[in-house]
Amino acid sequence: MLPSQRALFDMPRDVCFLNAASWSPLPLAVQEAGRAAIGRKGQPWKLDAGFQAQQYDRARKAAAALIGADSVDVALIPSVGYGVSTAGKVLKIPRGSRVLVLQDDHTSPVLEWMSRAEAGGFSVEQVKQPADGDWTSAVLAAIDRAGAAPLALVSISSVHWSDGGALDMARIAKAAKAKGSALLVDATHDVGVRKIDVKTLDPDFLIFPTYKWVLGPYGRAFMYVAKRHQNGVPLEQTAGARRAVSAEDTLYFRDVSYTDGAKRYDMGERDHFVSMEMAAIGMEMMAAWGNAPIVARLSMLTDLLADGLANTGVQVLDKKLRAPHVLSLAFPKGMAPDLPKRLAAENVHAAPRLGRLRISPHVYNDEEDVERFVEVFKKVGL
Ligand SMILES: Cc1ncc(COP(=O)(O)O)c(C=O)c1O
Repeated sequence: MLPSQRALFDMPRDVCFLNAASWSPLPLAVQEAGRAAIGRKGQPWKLDAGFQAQQYDRARKAAAALIGADSVDVALIPSVGYGVSTAGKVLKIPRGSRVLVLQDDHTSPVLEWMSRAEAGGFSVEQVKQPADGDWTSAVLAAIDRAGAAPLALVSISSVHWSDGGALDMARIAKAAKAKGSALLVDATHDVGVRKIDVKTLDPDFLIFPTYKWVLGPYGRAFMYVAKRHQNGVPLEQTAGARRAVSAEDTLYFRDVSYTDGAKRYDMGERDHFVSMEMAAIGMEMMAAWGNAPIVARLSMLTDLLADGLANTGVQVLDKKLRAPHVLSLAFPKGMAPDLPKRLAAENVHAAPRLGRLRISPHVYNDEEDVERFVEVFKKVGL
C-alpha cells in the first residue's frame, strides 16, 4: 500500500480535504514547476527552439503511460467536452440508431449527443440509476435490450461522478462491440487510480482531464483515439495538425494534408508550456506510485469511512460496486442542505452532489482525516 504522501502537498494538518473528485490540490512539485514556467514566459527570449515541443511530447507520453497507450494515439485537448465534441464530429451516428448514456452522468459525455440527436435522427437513451447501485448490470441490460434500435454508441463515465459507482468497462466494452457499437469512455474519475489499458479495452475514444485525480492544472485533458478514427476532421483547424504548415518556412501552406496519429486532433495553443509541464509532472507522479498501491491506500480509507459511518443512517454503495476512491453518502430522509457548509466550517471538505455527500480521498489523506471526518460528521451532520 502506498504510504501517505501528505508531505508532498501544501496541506496543513488541521485541513481535512476529502474532495479530490472536485479538484485536487497541486503537489508542491507541480506548483513549483508552474512558477518556474511562468518565469520562463516572462523572458521568452531565453527559450530554446523546440522547447515547447519537448513539453507537449512529455505530457503526451505521461498521459499515454497512464492508460497503456502509445503516445501517437493520444491528442492534447483542453477539456473532456472538447474531446467529446471531436468524437461528435468524427463518428457517424446513423439515423434511427441510439446512443447510450448514464442517467445524470456529467454533461461532458452526454450533451454532445443530446444536441445532435434531433438533426441526426437518432435517440439518446439514458440508463436509469439502478436502485441496487449496480451500474454495470444496468448498462449491460440496456445494451442487450430486446427490440431496441441499433446501438451506435455507448458514451459513459467509467466511474459515476455523483454516486461513485464503478463500472466494469471490460464487460461493457465486450458487450458494446458484440452489437457493433462504438464506445466513448469518460475516464475522468478513473485514470491514475484504477488500472486502464486501452490496448485490451479497445475503446474508440477515452478522455480524461488533469485537474482532479492526476494532480494537475485546469485546461489540460487528453484523448486516446483508436487508430480506426485517426482519419477524421478535427474540431479546430491548426497548423500542428497538418504535415507542413510552418511560419518559419518560406512557403506557409506547403502541405496541408493531415499528419498521422491522434495529434491531428490536438487543440490550438498546445505550446502552452506552463500548464503542460504541470500536467506532465502530476501524471508522472501518479504513474510512479502505480495503480495497485494507490488503490490499496484509497480503498483502505473509503472502507474505514464506511465502517465509521455505519450506524449513522447514511447509505453507501456496496464495496464491490463502488470505486475504491469515492464514497458517496445517501441520506434516506434527505441531506440537510447546509451540511457541506457546516462541515467546511470545521475545515472538513466534501462535496454535495445530487443529494448525496461525495467523499473523495487522495494520496495525501490518512487515517487521521478519516477519524476527523467521522467525528465532525457525527457532531454536525446528525
Ligand atoms: C465525469 C466528468 N467528466 C468530465 C468532467 C469535466 O468535464 P470538462 O473537462 O468538459 O469540463 C467532470 C467534472 O466534474 C466529470 O465529473
